[in-house]
Amino acid sequence: MDAAVLHAYGEPPAPGDRPPPPAEQDRVLVEVTAAPVVPLDLLCASGTSYLGAPALPYVPGLQGVGRVAATGERVWFATSAGMAPGDGSLAEVCSVAAADVIPLSADLADVADDHVAAIGLSGVAAWMCLTWRAALQPGERVLVLGAGGVVGQAAVAAARRLGAARVVAACRSDAAEARARRAGADEVVRLVEGTEARDLVAAFTAAAEGPVDVVLDPVFGAAASAAARALAHGGRLVNLGGLGGDAAELSSAALRGRSASVLGYTNNALTPAQRADALGEVLAMAAAGSLEVDRQVHALDDVATAWTAASASSGVRSVVRLR
Ligand SMILES: NC(=O)c1ccc[n+]([C@@H]2O[C@H](COP(=O)([O-])OP(=O)(O)OC[C@H]3O[C@@H](n4cnc5c(N)ncnc54)[C@H](OP(=O)(O)O)[C@@H]3O)[C@@H](O)[C@H]2O)c1
Repeated sequence: MDAAVLHAYGEPPAPGDRPPPPAEQDRVLVEVTAAPVVPLDLLCASGTSYLGAPALPYVPGLQGVGRVAATGERVWFATSAGMAPGDGSLAEVCSVAAADVIPLSADLADVADDHVAAIGLSGVAAWMCLTWRAALQPGERVLVLGAGGVVGQAAVAAARRLGAARVVAACRSDAAEARARRAGADEVVRLVEGTEARDLVAAFTAAAEGPVDVVLDPVFGAAASAAARALAHGGRLVNLGGLGGDAAELSSAALRGRSASVLGYTNNALTPAQRADALGEVLAMAAAGSLEVDRQVHALDDVATAWTAASASSGVRSVVRLR
């Protein structure tokens, strides 16, 4: 069968031939229609992941959308490709653990497969950071860093849906600002390299019309450092990525003075039920028209372009069409 095959760490996968996966107990064969290329795919394929280097060659792809080969049921699914032995979603057919297959209900019929694929675990992460880790309450103020990214757009839309009083987006470019506003941001703070920390704290607080209750942070580094200083009493900063650096300076006075919390998040800690519920929530927003994620759809032959575009971290999700 046709697949994208990774032969060398740090290189894009190439179109190639792989033996079709066999039918196995407790596994489901999915005929894949669309699979996104996400930052974690790139990290795993770099060979430098904290999760270890995968054996080569392998088919990357941690998630996808398709039809169950045996029944035709439309599903979203997750794999462990790159984190554990086995092939992933960038193939015509993928063997998936039964617990990692989530049926897509009929009310999602109008959400195209490539859109479901683009939202996927990025949307799950945004939803769970806000609801599970931060326990966001209606009426609270939310600041989303990296808001032009896929996680960021989903977080802005989710904060709106969860009743946040004010949603502030922080991002770097005109395109990112437009995406954040479309997702529902009340105000946008532009992150400009070299900005004094105190100016950024003031900008966050002014845009939020007060101290911030919840920060969703896929960036870390200087932006998170300033965001943590903008937290309200009892505020929570949830970090789920390090696009702006693996370290951030945190003010003890700001944290202890406000009994504020800095929390970490990984999708890998979710139970299948949590993941399925969160996916349902974010896809419902897409079905209702309140979440639209920018994406570029590529043919399998063009997977190297999809991969390279994803590594630019532009906030536009690369999605590969498999059939
Ligand atoms: N822990 C988890 O379970 C989990 C789950 C999903 C994602 N993540 C992580 O969350 C992060 C975001 O994922 P994503 O899918 O949203 O990625 P994405 O769609 O590629 O977007 C990344 C966004 O981050 C911004 N960005 C990149 N480098 C930056 C920097 N140096 N300073 C400030 N902003 C920067 C960009 O902002 P502009 O558009 O403003 O330039 C871009 O829009 C990734 O690190 C990903 O691995 C973690």
